[in-house]
Amino acid sequence: MNGSCSSCHNGTTATGKPANHFATTLQCDECHTINNWTSVDFNHSSPSYPGDHSSSVTCLHCHQGNTQTVTWIFGAYKPDCAGCHADDFEPNNHKKYENPDTFYSVSELRDCSGACHLYEDSSMTTIKKSQRGEHQPRDSSF
Ligand code: HEC
Ligand code: HEC
Ligand code: HEC
Ligand code: HEC
Repeated sequence: MNGSCSSCHNGTTATGKPANHFATTLQCDECHTINNWTSVDFNHSSPSYPGDHSSSVTCLHCHQGNTQTVTWIFGAYKPDCAGCHADDFEPNNHKKYENPDTFYSVSELRDCSGACHLYEDSSMTTIKKSQRGEHQPRDSSF
């Protein structure tokens, strides 16, 4: 019966979406199973999706309008992590090279998960400390 749920679940023949339901055009079984309506599991396919976060991050944290549209708080950095997390960036913790101390910008590290090596000096030829993949979406903090 995949894909045909809404032929019955339209609020007349059988239980339909409550009025305050997450606004979506997708079929019920993209998110629900026949067992109950309370558990919701959606597999994102959009290339803009950053990957699953910890379970404390719910749909509405990212879909603030209760619709399938996403709230990109820092649209200039979409679809990178910084598109939602630019204000979590602490420049002083992201040194780029020494002699003199110079720091990465949020724009340079906008994917949060890439390389952020510390170099010896401004020529950036010698890595003093190798760093990569420091942050993952499932981490409990940055
Ligand atoms: C032929 C009509 C029909 C189709 C198609 C159908 N259902 Fe139902 N479903 C019902 C009826 C009737 C009930 C029980 C009365 C009600 O909940 O309105 C029900 C109940 C449910 C319940 C509540 C279960 C419970 O025990 O609380 C869920 C969840 C559900 N259906 C999900 C789905 C999903 C998901 C699909 C699509 C894969 C689907 N249904 C397809 C008719 C249908
Ligand atoms: C894109 C995902 C998505 C689709 C598609 C979807 N829903 Fe939902 N649904 C949700 C979310 C999210 C909730 C809120 C769950 C919560 O409150 O914990 C929800 C909640 C519900 C609830 C209330 C559950 C409760 O008792 O709190 C019902 C009933 C429901 N959906 C019915 C439907 C029906 C009928 C369809 C298809 C016509 C449908 N949904 C399609 C995501 C979806
Ligand atoms: C960490 C943030 C985040 C969380 C949590 C999240 N989403 Fe999304 N969602 C996204 C992003 C990013 C997109 C893609 C938006 C774009 O393309 O601009 C998206 C897209 C969608 C779409 C559109 C279809 C698609 O695949 O692109 C639906 C439907 C959706 N999400 C439902 C949900 C539901 C239901 C939940 C909770 C079970 C949820 N999302 C949780 C970030 C999130
Ligand atoms: C569409 C928006 C969105 C995108 C893109 C996104 N996140 Fe998140 N993320 C959130 C939201 C919302 C939360 C929960 C609230 C918060 O802490 O800001 C969160 C929480 C987190 C947390 C837990 C933070 C804490 O202090 O509790 C980490 C770690 C995290 N995200 C990492 C990432 C990484 C790494 C990426 C890129 C691969 C990413 N996120 C992309 C929306 C997003």
